[in-house]
Amino acid sequence: MGQSRLSLCSIVLMLVVTLIMVMVNESHSAGMEFTNRHRKKPSNIDYADALTKSILFFEGQRSGKLPGNQRMTWRKNSAVYDGSLVGVFNFANTYQGNYKDSLPNTVCPFYCDFSGFQDELAWGSAWLYKATHDPVYLNFLNTNIKRLESANYVSYAEFGWDNKEAGINILTTIQLLSEGSSLSKHLSNDGKEYRFNADRFVCSILPENPTSVNYSKGGLIHKPAGSNMQNPAAISFITLVYAVHLDRAKQAVQCSDGTTVTPQRMVAIVKSQVNIMSR
Ligand SMILES: *[C@@H]1O[C@H](CO)[C@@H](O)[C@H](O)[C@H]1NC(C)=O
Repeated sequence: MGQSRLSLCSIVLMLVVTLIMVMVNESHSAGMEFTNRHRKKPSNIDYADALTKSILFFEGQRSGKLPGNQRMTWRKNSAVYDGSLVGVFNFANTYQGNYKDSLPNTVCPFYCDFSGFQDELAWGSAWLYKATHDPVYLNFLNTNIKRLESANYVSYAEFGWDNKEAGINILTTIQLLSEGSSLSKHLSNDGKEYRFNADRFVCSILPENPTSVNYSKGGLIHKPAGSNMQNPAAISFITLVYAVHLDRAKQAVQCSDGTTVTPQRMVAIVKSQVNIMSR
């Protein structure tokens, strides 16, 4: 990368490739559980077919205003910014609780909730602030972050389907990078914890001294529990997004041990993960 700015286009391309590769890999390993005895040699895997289906899958996942030529004809426009997300947020905020409490035996053996619902409310608040710039969402952000802290759910290095914390910290830090004091004045302690925890997350995944993850012998990020590919994929995604915005702001991550992590270094770590996931 040298001194040049990271090209947004190459970043987007890399993300798409990561997502497709993860998708191919997950569907491949899911398929293997059922067809283990008929397992094909790797050279017989039809990558073109797998990629075609993956792209179709992602087409089906799109939200917003869909183009006329989209192939999932049963899907309609969704999440168009018409206030419907505000409605969903207000509903969740009014009737607070964990979804697993209303569907206990159906969801919990599979998708148990470990991190409460406060992180989802904070995550929704942070996104709605970004979309509307209405400071009322910052009050919800402040409140739910405090509740997370007092419930001891705080886990700066987690980001996935259950825990959104690293995402909340990085999203808010990115907003702080562009808005400065017009945002920080609304946040508890001027929002310093968001930057502190966003940087602490990056410092905790450095291959030379990882503290929130482990690296496999081949160099892939690993965290305990099943379906590991979600971990390197989600961690790579937010690390890359953070790197792009730090680069724009000409800033770097400072670790408590004195290490400086440049955006270029962050991209190199993400690249190593994408390369391994693509194998
Ligand atoms: C890393 O691996 C060690 C040894 O297996 C284990 O004790 C530790 O909990 C792991 N750390 C993380 C963050 O997964």
